Amino acid sequence: MLSEIKFKNQTSLKMLSMTTLISHKADKLTGLVKVPGDKSISHRALIMGTLAIGQSRISGLLEGEDVLNTAKAMTALGADISRDDNGDWLVYGVGIGGLCQPENALDMGNSGTGARLIMGLVSTYPFNTSFIGDSSLSTRPMKRITDPLKKFGAEFHGAEGMTLPMTVSGIKDPLPIEYELPVASAQVKSAILLAALNTPGKTTVIEPTPTRDHTERMLQHFGIQMDINGTAITVTGQPELEARDMFVPTDPSSAAFPTVAALITPGSDITIKNVGMNPSRTGIYTTLKEMGADISFIDERLECGESVADIRVKYSPLTGVTVPEDRAPSMIDEYPILCIAASYAKGDTIMRGLSELRVKESDRIAVMVAGLKDCGVAVTEHADGMTVTGNTKITGGAKVQTHMDHRIAMSFLTLGMATEAPVELDDGTVIETSFPGFCLLMNGLGAHIGPQIKDAT
Ligand code: S3P
Repeated sequence: MLSEIKFKNQTSLKMLSMTTLISHKADKLTGLVKVPGDKSISHRALIMGTLAIGQSRISGLLEGEDVLNTAKAMTALGADISRDDNGDWLVYGVGIGGLCQPENALDMGNSGTGARLIMGLVSTYPFNTSFIGDSSLSTRPMKRITDPLKKFGAEFHGAEGMTLPMTVSGIKDPLPIEYELPVASAQVKSAILLAALNTPGKTTVIEPTPTRDHTERMLQHFGIQMDINGTAITVTGQPELEARDMFVPTDPSSAAFPTVAALITPGSDITIKNVGMNPSRTGIYTTLKEMGADISFIDERLECGESVADIRVKYSPLTGVTVPEDRAPSMIDEYPILCIAASYAKGDTIMRGLSELRVKESDRIAVMVAGLKDCGVAVTEHADGMTVTGNTKITGGAKVQTHMDHRIAMSFLTLGMATEAPVELDDGTVIETSFPGFCLLMNGLGAHIGPQIKDAT
């Protein structure tokens, strides 16, 4: 079943790879939509389901390329994963300690989260696991993961500079660690917590600032006792995880694209269903509201340990703000789309303290600055961020280089919905990694985004 889904997805990607995408001025956006499931929670749900004994059911799983690669990796490590007729995913786990050596290298595609979390997971099992990825993932730094995982006793054989392809030689008798993270990173924190699960004794990870806490919430959902003391998180290894049902809310990072589209398109009024409202993820909504956005949260509720609400967004005149640097972890993936809102805001929007953006799927500071300039937006690049000066009449009319970065691609398609001339992407296929159906969903609201056949010459 998994291979069929994967195959279908690859076929559609193949077709799309022959096209670019172009976004024309939108009509007012109206309607009610459900955007796909949360990417961070989806990766974790598949991993935790694999570590539990028995069958876990996941509803709302994101069926994007990144998550499907994690599902394939979990299958290679011993889980039995299938999708039922209602679209729920069933994971028959092998229990902590029950993983087996994969026969082939795990291909993590474009996903830093999948690669880093699974490297952490396998580092405390007595076998070798090789990891490969696409050209974007193969440039991303892995030393931040290998440094703490070596302390458990694991060894790493990677390309020069510690990048993929890489082989992890896991350790038979891992030692628990206490580790203070040098950079705020939920991926590194989670990799350590996953390594700790198969390590006897107490492992503690200390964060410089709190980052998304989906791993901690999900472990607790699976019945694991954790000791959370401020920014220090302690887990006792080799617990037993019992299978549980999981519900994946809509991704607040994906919901940010229709949100900003509605804010900058006059006359818009949209509602997005079931959006994850975990406070470690909602910095973008706080910032947009400070800019004057008319956003309301309806029917806030708790689902499987995560808070969820429907979001109503209306077109709003925006004003630039200085984004507090300590808000960055709660909106780390949303700076590209915030730049688009800032392009239509009165005055300057100052975004600093963001050197991490240089090592995401692309160098998001350099790539956003280049694309915005090409589209006629006034922007200044800083070593650790950017300042965007807004304007109500932006020319657009450019072909933007996306550098295999899904959030850059969706941000510029959103910009094209409001610019004078359309905005084109060199390659839109990468959107499939996190937001399958993006163009269809946006067009359903009133956008005009479509494929453009590449020049045949
Ligand atoms: C993620 C954490 C963030 C984020 C990424 C997903 C996660 O990365 O950028 O898209 O699921 O843990 P860092 O933790 O490296 O900042």
